[in-house]
Amino acid sequence: MNDIMKETLEHKHLAHLEALQAAYDRLLATHGFDGVLIYSGHPQRHFADDQHASFATYGHFMHWVPLHGLDHSWLLVRAGQRPKLQLHAPTDFWHLGTTLPDEAWVDAFEIARVDTPTPPGLPAGRYAVLGDVDEQTARSLGAELNPPTLTQALDEGRVRKSAYEIDCLREANRRAIHGHRAARDAFFDGGAELDIQLAYLGASRQRESDLPYQSIVGLNQHAAVLHYQHYELVAEADHRSLLIDAGHRYRGYAADITRTWAGGDASDAFAGLIEGVTTIQHNLIREMGPGVDYPTLHARMHQGLGELLGELGVVRCSAPAAVEQGITRAFCPHGLGHLLGLQVHDVAGRQTADGTALPPPAEHPALRLTRTLEAGMVVTMEPGCYVIPMLLDPLRETPAGGDIDWAAVEALAPHGGVRIEDNVLVTDQGAENLTPTL
Ligand code: GLY
Ligand code: MN
Ligand code: MN
Repeated sequence: MNDIMKETLEHKHLAHLEALQAAYDRLLATHGFDGVLIYSGHPQRHFADDQHASFATYGHFMHWVPLHGLDHSWLLVRAGQRPKLQLHAPTDFWHLGTTLPDEAWVDAFEIARVDTPTPPGLPAGRYAVLGDVDEQTARSLGAELNPPTLTQALDEGRVRKSAYEIDCLREANRRAIHGHRAARDAFFDGGAELDIQLAYLGASRQRESDLPYQSIVGLNQHAAVLHYQHYELVAEADHRSLLIDAGHRYRGYAADITRTWAGGDASDAFAGLIEGVTTIQHNLIREMGPGVDYPTLHARMHQGLGELLGELGVVRCSAPAAVEQGITRAFCPHGLGHLLGLQVHDVAGRQTADGTALPPPAEHPALRLTRTLEAGMVVTMEPGCYVIPMLLDPLRETPAGGDIDWAAVEALAPHGGVRIEDNVLVTDQGAENLTPTL
């Protein structure tokens, strides 16, 4: 991002803060509060140790303050008043002191630098305290801890992104793509999973603890493990497949991108599966727009998978029959995607704007987004197709098993699976893909 773009981003950030203040003013009045105190959170210490786990700052705190990783700090928001940021800045020669960037947003806050992690005292009135705060602290403040209706309303305020937030998500994507290119090259150079992860981190210029989620880097069968959590140190002898699901954060905002590559030892059918899943994703993105029901898109993904599995000769029945018998669900047990923002699985995906619960359909329990799309939402679009024996094997004994070509399944199994994931903004006219092409 160059200086002119940064200046524009800073202006957009100020407009974002102004709109946020107006939204909080309205909500505080509606819910009868004089203010909210938002805690950034803090990292957990390992038991009986002096080392800490990695840490993500609370989303509602970062909605205001664009400092991912800031801990033990507090933000007091009151109607019509400049927000007060109590910054934890201990006198500590073991660590580098807390500093704020030379950016315009800093002047929008009244800032107090304090040595202690204890919360600021609250003025007289009714306050809510939000975040990972214990009940005793809330009691000592005389504040209500995470009141559900207020929290739900604030969550809803994160669903439609401001121009500033969209720029941040776009930049997170741009940075992540540098990593994805290097990861692809490391795969074609014969790297082990760890080599691919290190290539990703190096090219996207980030340390592991700053990632929005642990990268999923699966070679061959590991590509079928949806949240595969290891990095093999030794290169695979066969270069069949790489599935890499890896992101980036920019000013707290997350990118969440997956690519799947076929290596020199891949079958034609697997290459066809990658192409087919990519086409399904492109077609679904074209269908996006305000007023489009996301669960309907999810259902269309299953229809598309039924057709693709038929074309590849994996399934012998019609696409509707493959969906109806649960065959496509066994090949893709996750949802089409989710809201994206300050959290990779962002808040409020399963509620209406007024807070009414929108649970996922019983046959698709993993669907994280059950809403109707609105302009300003940023969502992931991530169709997938995997050979997961734990899910497919039980079909062998059912009538659906007779509609599956098990030899074709077994030929695909050593490749693991495919997921193609982009981050897409819903616009007034339709949708804009924020993920650059590789
Ligand atoms: N990276 C996790 C997901 O795609 O939802
Ligand atoms: Mn992902
Ligand atoms: Mn995702």
